[in-house]
Amino acid sequence: MDASSDEGVVTEEVIVPRRVGQASAEPWDVLSPVDIEDGSGSAQNRLLIKGGRVVNDDMMQDADVYIEDGIIKQVGTNLHTPGGTRVIEAKGHLVMPGGIDTHTHMQMPFMGTQAIDDFYTGTRAALAGGTTMIMDFALPQRGESLIEAFHRWRTWADPKVCCDYAIHVGVTWWSDKVAQEMEELTNEQGVNSFKMFMAYKDTWQLNDEELLESFKRCKELGALAQVHAENGDVIKENSKKLLELGITGPEGHEMSRPEEVEAEATNRACVLANQVNCPLYVVHVMSKSAADVVSSKRKQGHVVFGEPIAASLGTDGTHHYHKCWRHAAGHVMGPPLRPDSSTPKYLMDLLANGDLQTTGTDNCTFSAAQKALGKDDFTKIPNGVNGVEDRMSVIWEKGVVSGKMDPCRFVAVTSTNAAKIFNIYPKKGRIAVGSDADIVVWNPHATRVISAKTHHQAVDFNIFEGMEVHGIAEFVVCHGRVVVEEGEVRAISGMGKYVPTPVFNPHVYGRLEERERANAPCKVERAPYEGPVAQLNGQGMQEGGIIPVQQETFYTRGPTRSGGVNLHDSSFHVSGRQRDDDLLPRTSIKLVTSPNSSSSLLGTFW
Ligand code: URP
Ligand code: ZN
Ligand code: ZN
Repeated sequence: MDASSDEGVVTEEVIVPRRVGQASAEPWDVLSPVDIEDGSGSAQNRLLIKGGRVVNDDMMQDADVYIEDGIIKQVGTNLHTPGGTRVIEAKGHLVMPGGIDTHTHMQMPFMGTQAIDDFYTGTRAALAGGTTMIMDFALPQRGESLIEAFHRWRTWADPKVCCDYAIHVGVTWWSDKVAQEMEELTNEQGVNSFKMFMAYKDTWQLNDEELLESFKRCKELGALAQVHAENGDVIKENSKKLLELGITGPEGHEMSRPEEVEAEATNRACVLANQVNCPLYVVHVMSKSAADVVSSKRKQGHVVFGEPIAASLGTDGTHHYHKCWRHAAGHVMGPPLRPDSSTPKYLMDLLANGDLQTTGTDNCTFSAAQKALGKDDFTKIPNGVNGVEDRMSVIWEKGVVSGKMDPCRFVAVTSTNAAKIFNIYPKKGRIAVGSDADIVVWNPHATRVISAKTHHQAVDFNIFEGMEVHGIAEFVVCHGRVVVEEGEVRAISGMGKYVPTPVFNPHVYGRLEERERANAPCKVERAPYEGPVAQLNGQGMQEGGIIPVQQETFYTRGPTRSGGVNLHDSSFHVSGRQRDDDLLPRTSIKLVTSPNSSSSLLGTFW
């Protein structure tokens, strides 16, 4: 296993991917005996991933990938590599960009407690599953400074993260100060996305006027508006009714917010954002009807993106009705998983076909004891589920193994589209020279059974418990470091970095500017109106009443369907008044001739 080198013969460390539950062999899926070598003393900053099939969103190619100092330096065959290069033998494996989870809540304070997976356990678990970057949310309390919240999240994340991360910031209330802080966050802190809540009444929910203001502000700043789309007023009303009926268990959570509550808010958010030409990103798309809204708005030309999550693609809301309270509560999140068990397949079809674009997890985990805060009242069950570790495998299983998408589309929906939408492409989301060396060496045939007993997350429950999945991240490289080796996680806290996300993303705003220009309102040039104008008094009322009583009596039959005067109406009154007595006398009668009509006289005389 000597590799040619400018410096002569070199020692290479060869690591052979371990096979777990091999299902079937493909031509590229054979390890030859010469591959099975071991070595040591390699330099961590030089790495060669050899013999694999490189997969990007737009192409696959059998190629080696050479990495130096955390950056991809060469992609191709027969590469010349310097001495001391460590080699990962990837024959039979797919070499893909590391996953980007667009939606997590590590150690988030929420509903009186705090998510149990923190930035260490959460990002370590992410790496174990092949995800090399997460996007978390800094969520200020109502009235709190957005900038303070942002820095608090950074202080939590920086010493703990094992992989890279970016931050979306929540606009959880509205004021001039919020608008001004949004600008500071975009200009100075590398934030390019803001999440607005249409639910969580009395805490984070914004009303329509506030939503419009925040969308306008995002547009001005070149940021991407995100929405949690559920009608919080309806949820509050329904929850009260259900509790009064004695429905206190986790099923009440799902009953209080049926699909149309999500679909209505999704539609409203799309309309509001479109009215002010703001690009919109709908987080955690959980239902068929909400996904249909996103898809149909995209067909109408709206700049809108939809993010299903591992949970909505991999399981369903029938679990809310499980007899075991902990099991049912373990599935409580908002918007809820849907009891329509055809939902995951439907969402996967839309994801495969381009109607939905990215995948997150909304990873926000709570232990049994934490969930039990709502044992007597479903509105107090902390909302959130796992996913950060299993997203890649679940999407591979339900998307690729099912035949709905090919490996290129898998890469698109697990990393590339996220990198494009959040403006960090091609640094992230691509295997190419110059990109960050965030790579997963994927064994597409190996299988594992997901379980809370074996997962790396801190939480004591897994919504995918018992699911057998193909596709295992055998090696994971983060910034050029091998952090998962043969399934073993070797991550170090604080190893990850904050990734700034720049505004005015061409992938989002490029089309928007053209669209705005093309659809700009256009004034109709016409002669000014010179007829009489009603006079209003100080209260804004017409002097002497609004409409003379006698005139009203002429129109007893209402207008025709096209808005014209009904010919069966009388044009004069028994008093002798004529219908046009209040109009100024005309100097002439206009005759209108229809080009398609045999009659030359279509003029109206009233
Ligand atoms: O249930 C959820 N989704 N918990 C996290 C907060 C949010 O709305 O994303
Ligand atoms: Zn949300
Ligand atoms: Zn969330």
